[in-house]
Parts: sequence; C-alpha cells; structure tokens
Amino acid sequence: MCGIVAYVGQKEALPIIIKGLKRLEYRGYDSAGVALIDQEGLNVYKKKGKVSELENHLTDKGTLSSTIGIGHTRWATHGEPNDVNAHPHYSSNEKFAMIHNGIIENYDVLKTDLKNKGYVFQSDTDSEVFMKFIEDIHKNNDCSLEEAVRLALHKVVGAYAIVIMNIEEPDTLIAARKGSPLVIGVGKGEYFLASDATPIIEYTNQVIYLDDYEIAVIRNGSLQIKTIENVETNPYINKLEMELEAIEKGGYEHFMLKEIYEQPRSIADCMRGRLDAKNGRLVLGGLRDYMNKFQNADRIIITACGTSWHAGLVAEYLFEEFARIPVEVEYASEFRYRNPVVNEKDFVIAISQSGETADTLAAIELAKSKGATIFGVCNVVGSSIARATHAGSYTHAGPEIGVASTKAFTAQISVLTMMALMLGYQRGTLTESKYVQLLNELEKIPSKVEETLQMNPHIEEISAEYKDARNFLYLGRGYNFPVALEGALKLKEISYIHAEGYPAAEMKHGPIALIDEEMPVVFIATKDNSYEKVVSNIQEVKARKGKIIAVVTEGDTTVKSMADHVLEIPDTAEAFVPLLSVIPLQILSYHIAVMRGCNVDQPRNLAKSVTVE
Ligand code: M6R
Repeated sequence: MCGIVAYVGQKEALPIIIKGLKRLEYRGYDSAGVALIDQEGLNVYKKKGKVSELENHLTDKGTLSSTIGIGHTRWATHGEPNDVNAHPHYSSNEKFAMIHNGIIENYDVLKTDLKNKGYVFQSDTDSEVFMKFIEDIHKNNDCSLEEAVRLALHKVVGAYAIVIMNIEEPDTLIAARKGSPLVIGVGKGEYFLASDATPIIEYTNQVIYLDDYEIAVIRNGSLQIKTIENVETNPYINKLEMELEAIEKGGYEHFMLKEIYEQPRSIADCMRGRLDAKNGRLVLGGLRDYMNKFQNADRIIITACGTSWHAGLVAEYLFEEFARIPVEVEYASEFRYRNPVVNEKDFVIAISQSGETADTLAAIELAKSKGATIFGVCNVVGSSIARATHAGSYTHAGPEIGVASTKAFTAQISVLTMMALMLGYQRGTLTESKYVQLLNELEKIPSKVEETLQMNPHIEEISAEYKDARNFLYLGRGYNFPVALEGALKLKEISYIHAEGYPAAEMKHGPIALIDEEMPVVFIATKDNSYEKVVSNIQEVKARKGKIIAVVTEGDTTVKSMADHVLEIPDTAEAFVPLLSVIPLQILSYHIAVMRGCNVDQPRNLAKSVTVE
C-alpha cells in the first residue's frame, strides 16, 4: 500500500509534497516522511503517525527550502509503524534517499548478503534493504545511479514503485515501477510523481502512467523513460479528466458521508452515454469488441476482494437471471493459489475500485495465462488492473477517498447490471419488452437513491440507540444477501463492532444461537420473491427478543408491525434493489462509527488500496 509523492521543478517542493501526501493518506497513515535537498545537503525527516504529525515535526526545523523532494505515507508491512521504519530511507553513505511502495519478497536473502559485506540496517524494512542493495551495486560497478537502479531491478523479486534522490545530482529524480502504481505529472519545466493522480491534478492535467519494468529519469527539466532492458520508450501523455473538487470534502465532515451523498450523481455518471431507455439503447463501449466472447462464454468467473467481491455476488444473481450463463464468484486471494480450472471459453470479470489490488491483479494474470478473456470493472482510470485486462468498463464514480467503499460499490453494480442486461438481450434470454421495461426502471435509480438518502436523520436517531452494541447480525436473501454482507463489512471496518452477514435462511443453522435482547439484527426485507420467507425469519428473531432494524419497501406494513425500526426504500425491480437497500446500511455504519469516536475515513489497520497480498 503506501502513498508516494515527488517533485522537481522551480517551486518549493515541501508544500507540494505535504499536500500530496495528505491526498494519498487513504493509502496508509501509520507514518510519513520527506527528503529534500537544500544548502545543507540531502535531509530526511520522518515521523510516526499521520502526515499532520510530520508537518508539526517540520515546523521546528525552520524554513526548508528545496525545489526537489520525495515524500511517503506508510502502511506497515515489514516492521512496526515507528519513526525509523518510516520512509524515505537513506543509503549508508547518506548520498541517496529512496521512497518505496510495494514489497520486496527476496529482501531477506539480499539483507544477509549485504550484512556480510558490512552494511548496517537502521530499520526492519524491506525498503531499506532495497536502497542499500542499489547502493552496493553502484559502489561495486562504478556505474551511474541510474544504471545501478536498472541492475538492481533485475535482481529484486516483488512489487515496487520507487523514487530516488541523489545529492550529487540535485536536479534529478529516478523512478521505477513494477506492480505498484506510479503516475508522472508533466508541468511546464516541472514534474510530479505520485501513486495516483490526486496530488498532481491541481498543477497539471498531463500525465504519464509508468509501465511495469520502466525506469523514468527526470534530469535538468527533461524526462526520459527506458525499460529495464535499457530500451528508450516514447511515453504517451494522457489528459486527466478529474476535477479538483472531486477530491476535496466540499463541506462534508467526512469523505465517507460526501461519497454516500454523491451516489445519485455517481450512478447517473456511470450510466451517462451508455443507457438511453427512451430509445431502448444500452451500450458499453468497452464490451463492443468482446461481446461475441461474452455471449458465447461457457462460464463467467468473477474475481475481486472485499466490497468489490460483494458487487461480484450481486452480479452472479444478475447474470444468471438475465443471461442464463453459469457464474462463479471467487475471492481473488483464493483463486490465485488454488489451481483453478480455467480455459479459453471462460469470460473473467475482475472488479476493483482502485484497480491496484494485488490479489486481483494476480488472479487476472493467472486467468490470462490459461487463455481466458479478462474484462475489468475499475474506478481508477489508468490503474494497473484497467491496463492488465483485455477490455473493460470504468465505473466513473469519481475518486473515492474514504477507506470504506460506498459509491464505488453502487457504481460497480450499475456497470454489472448494464452488462447483464446487454448480455441477456443479445442472447435472447431477456425479451424485448422486459428489456425495455428494465432499462426504464434502471434510469430511475439515481432519483430513487436521492429519495433514499432522505432517511439520513432517521437513521442517525436509530444509530444512537445501537452505538454501544457489541455485535450485529445482517440478514438478507437473494439479491439482498450480498447487501447483508456489505452492510456487515461497512459496520465492522469503520466502527470496530463485530458484525456478520448471512443469508437469512442460514440463521437457523447456527447464528440464531447468538440472538438475545442485546443483539441488533438488520434485515433487508424488501418485497421480492423471498419476502414471505424473510418475514418468517424476522418472527424467529422477534420470538428470541432480538432487536430488529428492517430495510423494507415503501408502504410495507407487515414488517413494520414486527420490527423495532423500519427504513423504507422506494420500490424498484427486484434485481435493482441492492442499489437502494445498501444506502441505509452505509448511513447506519457511518453514524455509529462517528458516535463511537472512530476515524471514519481512515479506520485503524486499513488502507484504501491493498497492493500487498
Ligand atoms: O480497490 P478494490 O476494490 O480492489 O479493493 C478491494 C477491497 O480492498 C475493498 O473493497 C475493501 O474491502 C474496502 N475497505 C471495503 O470498504
């Protein structure tokens, strides 16, 4: 995980780097550091805690003037979060400093070797080993630092995005990547490097996405990119579409709340230019060239992690209902290691908000090596997964900063719903009239989400009643089963309350033992095929004095008479209910977490993109 930022140009580097690190804090926030070159030399400053702690630490240091610098915000992998393990890491001679995002898998062997040569290590990190390994090559081969980096990259195993500074070349940054993202912002005589585009957007909208096994050298105001085989490449400059306001809180107390409230717009953005119900048209440009493969696939395999995996579960119901193709939904972390049966007739869909999740990337590579077609559903434009897949559709939810995924989830479901409808229609498993009826209903979803959001104050009141609960159970059936899982995940990750999601009918097979007057049970009991069954489950919980919070379809009186609280959502097609029923659950977890004093946007131990396995 971790976020990295670097700058070289004519401006003061430190404010740019600090601001950039704050934007990247969602990637890790256990320690932070910067390296600058000023009249006194190459200096590294680092501190345990958030970027603001580093900022406080720097105020004691007087004016730090440098037009070049590197910065890092860390999510610990090797070594506990403390000042010493924070980045940047110096070389032994303190002539070089490096920031690293990723994991070096063979660091132990390299470290032993370097120790035998007399190197001493200050930290427990793989990154310091990486820096000193480069230093050792530089010393022994009497070569340039750039060449030493190139040679080192042939030997290290693992993932990295690195940026290195060298006191002897105070206008030069050397960067490289494999497996971890690195974006280069191209300004007028200045360059910005970062893990994603959010620290860059304010200064330039011209960016280059560095590819795996590429080394970028910015020297004296110009950029050169070569592969690690020393072949110069001609980088493509992309134009960023992102708006600055999209990565700011815009008056909301937390990014999570802002992102929950953005859903009517993000879902509409996701459908814009794709869905035209009036004319019965639905087109996903990314699918066009692959429609044939999709339609004729023997099987659809969906792979993802966390919330994206829950979106995949919703898609399983969608694809099987509308297109009648068998679907398997796989945790990417399991799929990649269990020797799965995959072949050319499989259509694999990889879902990821960040597009950087290490397990999902590895699952893609595995499926690709077996000949399957891989389609990505990603939010971050230009991300590693977006580029590793054969084709894909962006979710267009806009930057999601809160660690708990909200608008990305509903945008993922929106894309997957459109894919399922297109597929069903093309395969003839959805009749024309049903198709048109569904398109019309889908188009109404953004305004129904808007309506659903109006429950916020009511949910806040309910939250106050349950904020001290120690456990929660979330139950749903059919399309609402993945929503139950997602509701439970939201609550546990931001409020640290233990919560479990279950298919409602499974309750009798174990979880019912947990129910007593202390146990809040959230039912998603909308009017659908399994409604009557869920009502019976509600009765079973009531008989055992559990507290019932039920998400129901507007106007429901049956559940209202049984539940302690009801949250009414607008009626819609059964298949689209997750887009609405998840909203009250997001809001519930948000308020409970705020009331418990938790850091909603940056929950403990988590990071937004999990770029390590
Ligand atoms: O970026 P991705 O969608 O690949 O991330 C997958 C999970 O790490 C992510 O959904 C995680 O579970 C979130 N914290 C959930 O809110």
